[in-house]
Amino acid sequence: MTIAIIGAGIAGAACAAVLTEQGQQVVVFDKGRRAGGRMSSKRTEHGYLDLGAQYFTARDPAFKTQCQQWLSSGIVTHWYGRLAQVTAEGPQASPDDTLRYIGMPSMQAPVTRLLGNVDVSLGCQIDHIQFDGQHWLLHSNGAFIGRFSKLILAIPQQQAAALLNPVLPSNQTLSKLFELPALLPCWAVNIQVDQPLWPFDGIFFKQDSQLSWAARQGSKPGRCNAGHWLLHFTAEFSQQHLEADGDTIAQHAMQALKRLTDKTVTGQVSHYHRWRFAQQNPDYPIQGAVHLPELALGMAGDWLNGGRVENAWLSGRQLAQSILA
Ligand code: FAD
Ligand code: NAI
Repeated sequence: MTIAIIGAGIAGAACAAVLTEQGQQVVVFDKGRRAGGRMSSKRTEHGYLDLGAQYFTARDPAFKTQCQQWLSSGIVTHWYGRLAQVTAEGPQASPDDTLRYIGMPSMQAPVTRLLGNVDVSLGCQIDHIQFDGQHWLLHSNGAFIGRFSKLILAIPQQQAAALLNPVLPSNQTLSKLFELPALLPCWAVNIQVDQPLWPFDGIFFKQDSQLSWAARQGSKPGRCNAGHWLLHFTAEFSQQHLEADGDTIAQHAMQALKRLTDKTVTGQVSHYHRWRFAQQNPDYPIQGAVHLPELALGMAGDWLNGGRVENAWLSGRQLAQSILA
């Protein structure tokens, strides 16, 4: 029988790719119109805009090999942004020799490639699941989707909890996994400015109470042209302003730019996105992936493995290998 994977982000895609390679029958469901999840670039009239993951790095040997393969086939390229950090002393160039990758032509590309030989059902939000003791039954929008030999949740922790809690309310392993929030929010705002802001392409704000990151989209191949700056707010600020409307966040973004550049900044906010489950809570323990054979259930995702694209990929592969073993 078929294995169902909910979530076509990089974790679900990496898991699906390994299982499919090993002859398992797999179907992946995602509520989005495209695969990719938080590796997400928005198509705009000015080019792609990276609203979620900005780049990724590779430390694990297996992921380095994977990145090398993607590089050879044009699925990713290097991003050699001029980096800086902003501290109380102001902005300072902060070059390093870390290799950074971006998807080509958009951040989703590696995920799409992983899912090349996999049956994927997009625009399908799984909103209700049942376990009959052996099989998982999936439902979407009031309709029965199918019965599966195994269920893999490759979705953010809080979304996994919302699906599983009503089904397995007294399972101790799950309760423990869901006790502490693993993922914290992040507001993302893109501003098209009329003047140069900084002579850099990527800026780490080390102590700012509002911003954590700014990237000049024009420094990345295929992305929006030079005047587009993508800003990420800190987890703390994003949590405090989680239910604010986008226009209010846009005003905060303009004010933060004026404060941090000490310039009269003119321009307009072109896009914003509230990521409710974005970045790793540093207090959440790393566990790789979760496989509960007695429940025919697995879970993978960045949240189980320290956040970041690389760790999500590793988590998905680890789960697939555990299932195959
Ligand atoms: P996701 O990408 O979240 O995939 C989960 C998928 O499940 C989604 O596609 C979603 O649509 C789907 N889904 C959820 N619930 C359901 C349901 N009920 N039914 C159907 N589908 C469902 N990492 C880096 O390495 N470098 C960075 O620069 C970086 N910057 C980031 C900036 C932001 C703003 C954000 C939000 C993240 C950033 N990350 C970065 C983190 C990185 O994007 C993630 O670690 C990684 O993409 C997570 O992959 P995943 O597969 O675990 O989850
Ligand atoms: P990385 O190695 O480039 O960065 C890791 C951290 O090291 C950075 O956050 C920064 O604090 C520091 N750093 C790296 N290079 C620096 C430099 N040249 N100068 C000054 N500081 C530097 O990338 P890695 O480990 O792959 O992490 C991915 C990035 O994605 C991180 O910056 C992380 O904060 C960010 N991220 C953001 C999320 C969000 O929701 N905004 C979610 C997940 C990751």
